[in-house]
Amino acid sequence: MGDELGDVAGQGHDGTMWSAEVAPKLASEYLSGLGRRWDHVQAVGRLAEELAAADMVSSDVVAAAWLHDLGYAEELSTTGFHPLDGATFLMNERVPAEIVALVAHHTGADFEAGERGLSEHLAELPAPEPDELDVLTLLDLVTAPDGTPTDPETRVAEILSRYPTFSPVHRAVARSQHALLASAQRARDRLGLSDEWLAGLPEGVLEP
Ligand SMILES: [Fe+2]
Repeated sequence: MGDELGDVAGQGHDGTMWSAEVAPKLASEYLSGLGRRWDHVQAVGRLAEELAAADMVSSDVVAAAWLHDLGYAEELSTTGFHPLDGATFLMNERVPAEIVALVAHHTGADFEAGERGLSEHLAELPAPEPDELDVLTLLDLVTAPDGTPTDPETRVAEILSRYPTFSPVHRAVARSQHALLASAQRARDRLGLSDEWLAGLPEGVLEP
């Protein structure tokens, strides 16, 4: 954790020390009422945990996987831009900067911040470790909005079809889609995740 977080670094407003177990609890507290959004988040979190159990991803990626969409919680919405709202909340909760950074910049958030005129706000938050951001992007893009496994190309196409062409989300993903797919592919290459891994996700991820 960085010094900017002060002399009680790692301690939330309620005095709880940060630990890996906090992320799924926080996610559940704020997102479990949101139906398929919660299904998506749980699937991304569990997929990260599965890779972490094989020593392939860091605990920061696991935490960020659970927390990446926290800003969709209505009570945390301040700007209406969920990566920024979620990351701001987490920073105020003294969650480690590396995790805040991943949430703030996940899955093309920088592009969407530009569409929303929020780039300067986003830039005030910590910058992520690029390799870890690639992994989080991969996990988000191989998990459909309802939590079922998908592939990055299908996921990107689904986002573009779900949001109208004038929306900031559509415009951002239209601009960022090649960068997003390249990011996901870099993560797969680095982690050695084959096409068979992608095809095998239903069994690997969703079985209890
Ligand atoms: Fe998100």
